[in-house]
Amino acid sequence: MGLGNLSIDPLAELRKRQSAKWRTFPDDVLPLPVAEMDFPLATPIAKVLHEAIDRSDTGYAAPTRDLADAVSGYALRTWGWEIDTDHVRTVADVGMGMVEILRRVVSPGDHVVISPPVYEPFSWWIREVGAHTVEVPLADGPLGWRLDLDALERAFATNATAYVLCNPHNPVGLVHRREDLVALAELADTYGVYVLSDEIHAPLVLPGADFVPFLSVSDAARRWGFSFLSASKGWNLAGLKAATVVTADRAPKRYVDRLSPHSLYRTGHLGVIATVAAFNEGDQWLADVLDMLDHNSRLLDDLLRKLLPAAHYRQPQAGFLAWIDFGALGWGDDPTEHILNTARVALNAGHRYGPLGVGFARLNFGCSPETLTEAITRIATTA
Ligand SMILES: Cc1ncc(COP(=O)(O)O)c(C=O)c1O
Repeated sequence: MGLGNLSIDPLAELRKRQSAKWRTFPDDVLPLPVAEMDFPLATPIAKVLHEAIDRSDTGYAAPTRDLADAVSGYALRTWGWEIDTDHVRTVADVGMGMVEILRRVVSPGDHVVISPPVYEPFSWWIREVGAHTVEVPLADGPLGWRLDLDALERAFATNATAYVLCNPHNPVGLVHRREDLVALAELADTYGVYVLSDEIHAPLVLPGADFVPFLSVSDAARRWGFSFLSASKGWNLAGLKAATVVTADRAPKRYVDRLSPHSLYRTGHLGVIATVAAFNEGDQWLADVLDMLDHNSRLLDDLLRKLLPAAHYRQPQAGFLAWIDFGALGWGDDPTEHILNTARVALNAGHRYGPLGVGFARLNFGCSPETLTEAITRIATTA
């Protein structure tokens, strides 16, 4: 199965994987929720991991500059963004990095703003540090999703210490426009609000959109911003545990410098090895994956139009996640229950991403076109 240069294992092989995507549901269910991709590991990454295993090289991550060099090389080559390698800090994953920075910039009881529908753990991370979540939903207009800058200004002016930005924005696949990020940075500067920019999906921007790193837009963004970059979504390395926090000004760097020196030892050594290979040698594989995702996003659009025209879907600008409105089908506030019980396809419930997600579901199309076709065909037969 596959397309172009990517050949994807058949389902029987994929079901041998022991990761969350493949171990959460029984074998008659097509699992399309957990954000893992079904594609084979990029060859340069598989090679360095095999070599590490052959050396029994499974100790702690070492304090080398390899990861900082690889991230900054990738950012410059891909986005023209210059990162100072002294401003790159290794952490185990984006979630851990976010929580540790939030712990340092907010106090318990403070208000932290998010823009739903958004990745559900944002509110868990805010709760974990004892802060309150303030929801400023995305605006949804004729030209698509945007940050609601007026509403953000009201929230920042009232009472906010930090804003967690999803850039690109999971689950709607929005790649924020430069002018919106510039305006957001101005608001942050005016009201003294830290911006924690989760840029984990940045390598997965699809043809037609351009990713703009938050820290690249202005001095204001650099004064107030933190960027969280990782290869874990782009190259499917989530289980190996390595990510980075990047800053571009002395003030936010001071908070990063206060992270425990142990954060490096909590990072996966194999994760660092794989991430260095991904950022240094993973461009070709990523290009093949982006072709596949672009193809699958169009295929999904065609399938829904033909087989399930009452469902609404706008193709994302980034990532492998589709945000589908099943509201007109009469399957209730959480259509995933009906879809799991009758079609044996598992999706994420939209309401978990905020009130705008009622009646929606999130579908992971980081799979073969055959699996995607099978999923939508199964769902359509239950309508
Ligand atoms: C926006 C976003 N941030 C963070 C994560 C999780 O990242 P990590 O495993 O590095 O904590 C995900 C996973 O899907 C995600 O979509």
